[in-house]
Amino acid sequence: MSIRQKISLPFIVMFLATWFLGSSAFGYYFSRSLEEKKSDEIEALGQIIFRDFEKTKNQLEIHARLISENHQIIEAIKSENTPDLLQNVLPLKTSLSLDLIKIVDQDGNKLIDLRVPLLTHATLFDQIAISQAIHGVNLSSMIATKSPVVYVLVGTAPIKSQEGIVGGVIVGHAISNDLLKEISEGLDKDIVALHQQQQIASTLPNGNQIQWHNVLNGKNRDSPKIFPSRPKTQELYINQQPYMAKPIVIHGLANTKLELLLLSPLQSLRQSQRRLWIAVGIFSLLGVAIASTMGYLIAGAISRPIKKVTDASTQLADGDLTIRVPVISRDELSQLAQGFNFMAEQIQQRDRELKLKMQELQDTLEKLSVTQLQLVQSEKMAGLGQIVAGIAHELNNPVTFIYGNVEHAFDYIEDLLNLISAYQQEYPEPTEALAETIEEIDLYFLIYDLKKILQSMKYGAERIKSIILDLRNFSRLDEADLKSVNLLEGLENTLKILQYRFKPQANRPEIQLVKDYQNLPLVECYAAKMNQVFMNILSNAIDALEMVANPMIKIKTKFAENLQQVQVAIYDNGCGITEEIISKIFDPFFTTKPVGKGTGMGLAVSYQVIVDQHGGLLECVSKPGQGSEFLITLPIRHQQGISDHISDKV
Ligand SMILES: Nc1ncnc2c1ncn2[C@@H]1O[C@H](COP(=O)(O)OP(=O)(O)OP(=O)(O)O)[C@@H](O)[C@H]1O
Ligand SMILES: [Mg+2]
Repeated sequence: MSIRQKISLPFIVMFLATWFLGSSAFGYYFSRSLEEKKSDEIEALGQIIFRDFEKTKNQLEIHARLISENHQIIEAIKSENTPDLLQNVLPLKTSLSLDLIKIVDQDGNKLIDLRVPLLTHATLFDQIAISQAIHGVNLSSMIATKSPVVYVLVGTAPIKSQEGIVGGVIVGHAISNDLLKEISEGLDKDIVALHQQQQIASTLPNGNQIQWHNVLNGKNRDSPKIFPSRPKTQELYINQQPYMAKPIVIHGLANTKLELLLLSPLQSLRQSQRRLWIAVGIFSLLGVAIASTMGYLIAGAISRPIKKVTDASTQLADGDLTIRVPVISRDELSQLAQGFNFMAEQIQQRDRELKLKMQELQDTLEKLSVTQLQLVQSEKMAGLGQIVAGIAHELNNPVTFIYGNVEHAFDYIEDLLNLISAYQQEYPEPTEALAETIEEIDLYFLIYDLKKILQSMKYGAERIKSIILDLRNFSRLDEADLKSVNLLEGLENTLKILQYRFKPQANRPEIQLVKDYQNLPLVECYAAKMNQVFMNILSNAIDALEMVANPMIKIKTKFAENLQQVQVAIYDNGCGITEEIISKIFDPFFTTKPVGKGTGMGLAVSYQVIVDQHGGLLECVSKPGQGSEFLITLPIRHQQGISDHISDKV
């Protein structure tokens, strides 16, 4: 669930709950109040109708009195003239719209009894009324009839003459449909008169067909009995239609009890209630829509900046340290954005520092590994130097001894040979034994060969001496002084020494020497060692030119003033060097030359001299078949090489 949903959902649920409860309470309250209003209205109408009945009864009493006070009627009773009495009463019946006029004499005997057709055949229970009238009581009440049952509102009055009571009059209005219509006129309500749950009159158009027994006992609907001791307004269903019913009980003579129902249809109320609930429903839905939209928008307003920070965090985690969140307002979310930006700034700063430190570390590591390599190399060289120095030292004495004595041996043998020669001149005829010995040892060949042997011994001893010198140079046992020298002079001297080697040989013509010299400043260096380097490189070049048709060596010197460096390049168009070999040529004792010809020390010593002892560079550019170029770069001011320091310390 997104943060937007998390924020908006409780908001919407709370709003909906409140809205639902509020609108339900509102709907219920208005619906109830409509019902209560209806109930109050029908209660009030019930009172009115009750009063109307009372009024009718009182009017009947007045009418009775009016008749009782009529002189002609009194006279007719006194004279017992019934036709006269009838003649006087009939107009009154019509004018007062009476349903019943009954006049009795003072003993209660009926004189006239005028009834509307409804009452014509009914048995009238009017004894109490008559008795009251002839006893001088004015009365307004109600009586009932039997077969058919009709309730009649009555008013009675005694008929008095000067002599006293001569009779009594009873007037009445039958409770009929017309009477009920008259009473309910203008009320827009219906009235039903009931006797033992049977309709006796009603304003309802089809009241006769209604099963009142079911309606009243709530058989159609589950409603309670409608006429208990204290009847209350309640809801009834007549032909499935809801009505608000107000029961009204009117008591009459001889325990007569008329039950009236004032009926107010509830259909319009129900419709109003339905409309109200529909309106509440629509407003609720509208409220839901508004609440949801508002909740969604508000949640969006809150969650959007949070989402921005979240997205930025992801980008930051992915390595985009430049990411920042815009700070627009001054609320808590903006503080969050500010906090994030500050954090990102810190991380970026740390990252920069870390990278710097890592770079430093990397550099240090590189330096360290170079130093380590150099150390190892110098260790090796130092060890080798010691061994070489030891060997050189050990060899030097016997070689010096041999070399020193070879000369003497040469002289002595020369002397001995001279002596033999002198003997031969003195004694040209040797003895037989002597001649035999001369013959045996092949003296003349011996003399010839001995000289050669001695010569080669001398050459061998010289060679050993030169190797020892190389070894001593390599092991730096002979440290010459540092001087400012002219390198071109050194080059020329070396070339002079090697001059004989440029001469034509059996396997190649004379080597052509090309000099491309640029004047060089004096260079601070160990001159003898530099010469040794030139010697080694030039010797190698000469060696490489064997079997080459047009052998050529080119020497080029250059001064790079801005760098304060001199360069000596020695090129030969010899056999060249393969890629595999080129990586090993500076290793001590690496040689491709036959045993006895090369020791493999020339370039190793040269490298040590140039790089370690002079802080320069010795590079080789070569390809098989394309010749080789050795490039010496030297600073004109002497710089102590690394291995010098190290080996000094060692
Ligand atoms: N100019 C060159 N052309 C071709 N190969 C060369 C050249 N200079 C050096 N080399 C190769 O480098 C190897 C090593 O040379 P380096 O001078 O150290 O030893 P070397 O000449 O074999 O013996 P020495 O100790 O007598 O000099 C040589 O054996 C040769 O194979
Ligand atoms: Mg060599």
